Amino acid sequence: LTDGPLTGKHILVTSGPTHEPIDPVRYIANRSSGAQGTAIAVALRDLGADVSFVTGPADVPAPSGVRVIPVQTAREMQAAVEKALPADVAVFAAAVADWRVASQSGSKIKKQQGKLPVLEFSENPDILAGVSQMSEGRPRLVVGFAAETDDVIAHATAKRARKGCDWIVANDVSPDTGIMGGTENAVTLISERGAEEWPRMGKDEVAQQLAHRIVDYLAKK
Ligand code: C5P
Repeated sequence: LTDGPLTGKHILVTSGPTHEPIDPVRYIANRSSGAQGTAIAVALRDLGADVSFVTGPADVPAPSGVRVIPVQTAREMQAAVEKALPADVAVFAAAVADWRVASQSGSKIKKQQGKLPVLEFSENPDILAGVSQMSEGRPRLVVGFAAETDDVIAHATAKRARKGCDWIVANDVSPDTGIMGGTENAVTLISERGAEEWPRMGKDEVAQQLAHRIVDYLAKK
């Protein structure tokens, strides 16, 4: 481990999409590449943190020098997070599927003439809200993300309150921004102090700035 201001701190990071199976060969997913979560894990590692990196099936490779815990589904991610705790800080950068297929088929669903399959959904557990609202052993700092396409600050501020996390890193993922799957990000940090808009910069730089803010926070409290 690198020596730095986060030496001795255990930080949990979730990243990537989740895959929710329909049957053994099909799944429902989303466009998260895992790039921002991976960059955050790297930035924290480089400041000396002991990082547990719980990642869904991402496009970008998991970094070295962190504890990589690969998962597929939201429920697997939740179990992995619970197992990785306690942590000093938890950063939830994963794009967790809101729903899973209620009863996945054990065998491949066959195409039938004149009959379309109908999928029913169940709600996935909200991992961020669960950890934010832990009555015992809550991380000192819980950071969530909010990918929004409109009214970014209002929605993210409401999300922070609803989930009970300390910070929300909000970004506009409208298709014309090129943020989802791209190398840059334009984020607003929502904290108890309000909304702070950061200039558009590389995802690596967003990660480094966030890591430094985490250092400051832990030093103050
Ligand atoms: O509610 P929404 O999905 O917009 O919230 C996004 C934030 O909540 C992200 O930090 C994401 O990692 C986290 N989340 C979670 N578990 C879910 C859904 C979202 O941890 N089931």
